[in-house]
Amino acid sequence: MSDDERRLIRPATAGERADPRLMHRSNRAAWDEAAERYEGWLADAIAEIRAGRTNLFGAEVELIGDLHGRCHRAIHLQCAAGRDTLSLWNLGSEEVVGVDFSPRMLELAARLTEATRAPARWILADVLDTPHELDGTADLVYTGRGSLIWLHDLDAWAAVIARLLSPTGRFVLFEGHPVEWLFDADESGHWVATDYDYFGGPEASRGWAPEYIDHLSLPDADQSWKFARAWTLGEVITALLGADLQLERVAEYPIDWWGGHADVRPAERDRVPLSFSVVGRRLR
Ligand SMILES: C[S@@+](CC[C@H](N)C(=O)[O-])C[C@H]1O[C@@H](n2cnc3c(N)ncnc32)[C@H](O)[C@@H]1O
Repeated sequence: MSDDERRLIRPATAGERADPRLMHRSNRAAWDEAAERYEGWLADAIAEIRAGRTNLFGAEVELIGDLHGRCHRAIHLQCAAGRDTLSLWNLGSEEVVGVDFSPRMLELAARLTEATRAPARWILADVLDTPHELDGTADLVYTGRGSLIWLHDLDAWAAVIARLLSPTGRFVLFEGHPVEWLFDADESGHWVATDYDYFGGPEASRGWAPEYIDHLSLPDADQSWKFARAWTLGEVITALLGADLQLERVAEYPIDWWGGHADVRPAERDRVPLSFSVVGRRLR
């Protein structure tokens, strides 16, 4: 049985595509199930944060910079169990706020806070409903690493970023590159094209990639449907520009941010963009 069959993949129906909130609700249930895997990573997260380290890639740290003395509040959208959020604290943010819609993820984040005494606040909400009390308060809005593919209204997402930023705040996105959906390794470790439709829009699946969440205690076929899509680079950038954000830098990297392409030969790894970043500010 192929991975696709095992993971049960189908295109979203017309009715599902027309209803982003329906897809988000289903994703919320699926991510709450997947939080089980993050529980297994909690001890490592506590050790890392206590040691003052960061879980972020060097490329991200370079984009974010030293936050000491210049970041009162960092807001992390789609924060999961808070490991990357508290990495922003270790980079110098005085306080951090994480937003995620999975109660179980935020319970883990609360345990991480308790163990590290970090000045963190966790907000349970769909990212599109991030509370307005936070508007204009973020010196940094950070997100990415597997976040955008779960969203089904990018214009609304970009508007949230714009309203959260303080007048001098910065926005940093470090995300999986949509092109990575188009390539995989063959049995000899050479890149080959997948049959993914770059312009195909959302697809529904049950079961998770073995390199990431893998099997849960709930059998794949009993899990909630989750809806994901590879937003094209053009769609992401157009959404951000449409929210009146001023983009300062867009960059692409061969960084295998989730370890999903570890079977590609080392000599070929750097040929394909697997992640990208965008840095921006609010238009004055
Ligand atoms: C892959 S994780 C994000 C990356 C994170 N840095 C990590 O630890 O891997 C995706 C997260 O997005 C959250 N999420 C997905 N869609 C969301 C939405 N519409 N609103 C809020 N959170 C969402 C999930 O609950 C999950 O915790």
